Amino acid sequence: MILDSMLKGMPVGARSRVEEALDNISVVLQMRNPKVFRSMAPSAVRGLALKQGKRKSRVQMSSGHPVSFDLTYAMDFPEMRRLYQRAVDNQWNADRDLDWQLDVDPMNPEVAIISNEFFPDEYMQKLPVKLSPTQRLELNYNIACWMLSQFMHGEQGALYASAQVTESVSWMEGKFFGGTQVMDEARHLEVFNRYLMDKLNKRYDVNDNLFVILDDLLTDARWDFKFLGMQIMVEGLALGAFRTIHNMSQEPLLKNLLKYVIRDEARHVHYGVLALRDHFTRELSDAERREREDWAFEVAVLMRNRFMAHEIYEEWFEGTISRQQWNNLISNSPAMLQFRHNMFSRLIPNLDFIGLMSPRIRPHYARFGMLDFLQGKNASQLSEQDMVADLH
Ligand SMILES: [Fe+2]
Ligand SMILES: [Fe+2]
Repeated sequence: MILDSMLKGMPVGARSRVEEALDNISVVLQMRNPKVFRSMAPSAVRGLALKQGKRKSRVQMSSGHPVSFDLTYAMDFPEMRRLYQRAVDNQWNADRDLDWQLDVDPMNPEVAIISNEFFPDEYMQKLPVKLSPTQRLELNYNIACWMLSQFMHGEQGALYASAQVTESVSWMEGKFFGGTQVMDEARHLEVFNRYLMDKLNKRYDVNDNLFVILDDLLTDARWDFKFLGMQIMVEGLALGAFRTIHNMSQEPLLKNLLKYVIRDEARHVHYGVLALRDHFTRELSDAERREREDWAFEVAVLMRNRFMAHEIYEEWFEGTISRQQWNNLISNSPAMLQFRHNMFSRLIPNLDFIGLMSPRIRPHYARFGMLDFLQGKNASQLSEQDMVADLH
């Protein structure tokens, strides 16, 4: 209450910076586990306090992960071998397979980049600002640019993380598959960047919270944390977001591009669950497995609560509504609910499959309603075709 009245007396710019700082502190305070907090703290300082993802044009990150050089050339992981063959068979060429000649007009309401379904009328009426139909179109266009920019930044992180884990994994078939994933991620980076630059002509900086997660994954020397974070958590988040945008877009080039990317990502998550199940259930001690279980839970909560499109808030609504009001509005929006559903319906069965859903951690997931997804299929039970079958 006292804080509210203090904030009200401040100029808009200063008030917004204080609100942002308080919001960031609340992320840290929400973390339940001190060990996880300590391991993520350096990345949080770089991303949230120093804002390296926004203030620099190039960030140097040191990893220190082990390189596993295999001198046996043993091939004893047939399921991973088959996955590698599928990856080789399903390579595509962004230039040849997508129709870049298509004219994209982000302000054409007949072919919306994302439709009003994203922010439906009932939802918009809750805002104290009234937007004209043209402003609504422009807001949707900006949100599409924001989301696709985050995809692009995420893909750059995935490119480096997949290169790092290719060095670290011990299975020869895993190294083969890793090579195909590096190619896939390079292509994803290429298509999102090309779509943003050639078709939408607008690009946003990396979101601070996404930067924290990417920085944490790329600088943690423990290869299996990197692997868990990228192959299961971030890929799960990306798949949820790709599906949401695909279903809310009417623009054929974007829909087609996302379909190709989703097929590739389905294989990447499959690779992640195969590799980690083996590692977590056979090679780690109980204490080591628990540490990974706690880390996965904290990252799942971060992913659930922290992608609030603050860059859009600052551009469109700063000074009109508070950051907290925006957080409440966006986290209850239909698009966000669909995104969470898409993300957790895949993520939770995968965490269970790799052994990170013990009775000890389940009550924590239950608090967020995430356990409802436990009975779903994990990535090893879903083919690329299954993953795109229900896209519309
Ligand atoms: Fe990707
Ligand atoms: Fe991927």
